[in-house]
Amino acid sequence: MAQIINGRELADKIQAELAMEVAEMKEKNIVPGLVVIIVGEDSASQIYVRNKEKSAEKVGIFSKIDRLPAETTEQELLAKIATYNQDEHFHGILVQLPLPAHINEEEVIQAIDPQKDVDGFHPINMGHLLIGKPIKIPCTPYGIMKMFEAYDIELEGKNAVIIGRSNIVGKPMAQLLLMENATVTMTHSRTKNLKEIAKAADILVVAIGKGHFVTKEFVKEGAVVIDVGMNRDANGKLIGDVKFDEVAPLASYITPVPKGVGPMTITMLLEQTVANARKLK
Ligand code: GUN
Repeated sequence: MAQIINGRELADKIQAELAMEVAEMKEKNIVPGLVVIIVGEDSASQIYVRNKEKSAEKVGIFSKIDRLPAETTEQELLAKIATYNQDEHFHGILVQLPLPAHINEEEVIQAIDPQKDVDGFHPINMGHLLIGKPIKIPCTPYGIMKMFEAYDIELEGKNAVIIGRSNIVGKPMAQLLLMENATVTMTHSRTKNLKEIAKAADILVVAIGKGHFVTKEFVKEGAVVIDVGMNRDANGKLIGDVKFDEVAPLASYITPVPKGVGPMTITMLLEQTVANARKLK
């Protein structure tokens, strides 16, 4: 039976450390600030954003949610971002994705000052990561790397297989694993023989966005399984991309959903905001 990687517990520990750091910064009149912009009413995004705000406040970060109506134009959103780029109260700017279909996501990401891009999605930050010299790191893969570190999971020379090639998770995850000298295989919805490839993995990171997609047939005995999925089943229950109950007995380590990767993503957002406040002052 796998050891469960407790993302909630690790996130709480790191957040407690961040709270102490923020308290010290406040004595020097530095207050880290984070603004989260959300456009429209997507219900999952509303929940994520509320969780981000709660956690930010818990560690003492000054946080603001800017809620814009679904019919906000791209020009209006770009103008907002330009204002926050100049606003010294905010060291981090995050635009919650996905955006409504009439807004061009790339244009919006590129409008964020790369120095305040605590999501690490700006092409400049992605570029730094690609050459192995990251400045900002996308929060989900960053949180997963912290989990490997906290649980002493060796990566060097290991076969790491990633399922899902998104800009937010899969691609930056590959780069971070490569930096730790893993041998990385990227797979996706068009990959042939996906089960066989996954079954060769020592480290399996699943971010494909399909509930219970990974069954025991995908997993080698002793593999480390990281589940980035956040899906709802027919009853509205939150489920991962991995069929936990049948994979856990096989794996050496596994992340649950919820209380796995999710809390770590938020924590890395806070970490990068605090680090930025220190740097930009
Ligand atoms: N939507 C889903 N995950 C994320 C994330 O990490 N950052 C942003 N901005 N939007 C998201």
